[in-house]
Amino acid sequence: MDRNELSVRGYDRLAKVYRGLEFCLFGNSLFRARVALVDQIPAVGRALVLGDGTGQLLQELCVAQPDCHFTTVDQSRQMLRRQRRRVEQVGASDRVTFVQADARTFPVPGAEYDLLVAAFFLDCLTERELTAGLPRFLAGLRPHGLFYFVDFVRPNTPWRRRQAAAYQWAMHRFFRWQTGLPNHRLVDLERVLANQNLVTMHSADHLHPMTTCRVLNVG
Ligand SMILES: C[S@@+](CC[C@H](N)C(=O)[O-])C[C@H]1O[C@@H](n2cnc3c(N)ncnc32)[C@H](O)[C@@H]1O
Repeated sequence: MDRNELSVRGYDRLAKVYRGLEFCLFGNSLFRARVALVDQIPAVGRALVLGDGTGQLLQELCVAQPDCHFTTVDQSRQMLRRQRRRVEQVGASDRVTFVQADARTFPVPGAEYDLLVAAFFLDCLTERELTAGLPRFLAGLRPHGLFYFVDFVRPNTPWRRRQAAAYQWAMHRFFRWQTGLPNHRLVDLERVLANQNLVTMHSADHLHPMTTCRVLNVG
């Protein structure tokens, strides 16, 4: 079984328990981080959402952006099923296109979207894939488009850093076992982001020492 197949099967299997697992480990912290800045996004017309999993963030975005059309790309059929259900719950089915695809090869149309969304997704890619992939995803944005980014970060204080390293080590091991994740530790997302032409408009780093939520503007 190749890596892609392993990953799809893994996330299909995890879809049912994903939210419960997350709650056991982090309570509501990751949910709070995910939606922290949804209200700060100005009204947009088209959005591309990558790897949204069970669709918690997509659901919130559908409510906050009543005039937006969303394209949501996820490789896992079972995750997309859950996204569809959540979108139905808020009556937004006619505004969402569901695409089952590998984001690494998904042909992102140039300058099509006002908003790109990636929550706890970029670390599913290797640093090399991300270095090639992120500029391609961002090229899907129109001039002055926005990037809504949520992910794990390395905390600043030594104690928190050690705690985060232990958590992240365990999480990477778990996802490697379940989904064939090739990363052994958190990809250096800050380095990859710093190489893009992005300006931070809003950030929420206080909700959990291990997470960040940012609204970035493509300069
Ligand atoms: C770690 S989960 C994150 C889910 C959600 N965004 C969240 O906030 O918890 C990663 C999600 O990305 C999807 N995914 C992983 N690699 C992918 C890829 N190469 N292409 C498309 N989707 C992918 C998985 O199926 C899963 O739904």
